[in-house]
Amino acid sequence: MIVSSQTVPFVDLTLQHQPIQADIETAIAAVVQRGDFILGKTLKEFEAEFAEASGVKYGVGVASGTDAIALGLQACGILPGDEVLVPANTFIATVMGVIQAGATPILVDCDPHTALIDLNLAAKAITPKTKAIVPVHLYGQMVSPRALLDFAQAHHLIIFEDAAQAHLAQREGYWAGSVGMAAAFSFYPSKNLGAFGNGGMLITSDEEVAQRVRTLRNYGAPKKYYHTEVGKNSRLDTLQAAILQVKLPYLSQWNQLRNQAGQIYDQGLKSGEDKGITPINNQSQEGHVYHLYVIRIQETASLSRDQVQGFLEERGIQTGIHYPIPCHLQPAYKSLGYQLGDFPQAETLCEQILSLPMYPGITREQITWVIEQLSLI
Ligand SMILES: Cc1ncc(COP(=O)(O)O)c(C=O)c1O
Repeated sequence: MIVSSQTVPFVDLTLQHQPIQADIETAIAAVVQRGDFILGKTLKEFEAEFAEASGVKYGVGVASGTDAIALGLQACGILPGDEVLVPANTFIATVMGVIQAGATPILVDCDPHTALIDLNLAAKAITPKTKAIVPVHLYGQMVSPRALLDFAQAHHLIIFEDAAQAHLAQREGYWAGSVGMAAAFSFYPSKNLGAFGNGGMLITSDEEVAQRVRTLRNYGAPKKYYHTEVGKNSRLDTLQAAILQVKLPYLSQWNQLRNQAGQIYDQGLKSGEDKGITPINNQSQEGHVYHLYVIRIQETASLSRDQVQGFLEERGIQTGIHYPIPCHLQPAYKSLGYQLGDFPQAETLCEQILSLPMYPGITREQITWVIEQLSLI
């Protein structure tokens, strides 16, 4: 057994929660005191604060990021039978959300350097039924807003951003979630802004879209016991909103720490490139909020990705794979009609990617230890 001088967890949420624990407890107690657990005061406050921080007018808290996609697409006017462009290498919830909105996901391959959706390939996948594109700001890096806006304008498509991994990310002067007609965020606990359970938000500057999601998340009722749509029960709990409201003022600082950690990794891994170890490209500098720090272990490396993962594990370094199977090869999505070979970049990435430890508060020493171990490969 190898004795490691450092243990590096994949994420450590206690670091961000301990210093603000008393404030969180106070916020929870206030909700309990008021008893407004559903659609309460702090939910409305947090919706407004998160929307404003993201550069848009309205926020609508929902039960999860997945629901924010499904209900948000419906509210943007996506109808059954419409086709929606989605990257093949995303968390399955992006594809699931499109299907739950009643639309058909049309998968698109990615750029191998950034792992972001390839808009040239997206253009080739357009048919007369295509109504929208759901760019995923994967790992905390935005898809270029200028490129997206040009693309959407040229093809008359709605942009609906999946910003579940990109709270307050920036690129070309845009905040994540402010580029398209609307955007979805997730507050899953390990996200850059995480709740103490599930949660999500739809943000938009379009009042009608916001109002429609408010209705859809509340049993399709614009007013009590009056149902204009089937809808569902998908509200962000006031308690979760209270916790998120305490955390929001720290988000920029936490993102900065993630970005600094990303830069230390990038710098330290430069010498690994001739060994076939390459970081996913950061094309948005300080605007990248590094939900995940992902490297590729290419064919030229002396070990496979799985071997590298085992090698690091033996040295006390936890890693992850986001994601090991591309959406089109997931058993549940066979009926979409794709097969192995359809999205070669996404398929190769799934075999080569490895997510290294990344969280606000990871130390330079811990990152150096990870880089040193990778240099031994
Ligand atoms: C890219 C992406 N889209 C959508 C989601 C769905 O969010 P949730 O888990 O809150 O439903 C997630 C996170 O889980 C995600 O990473």
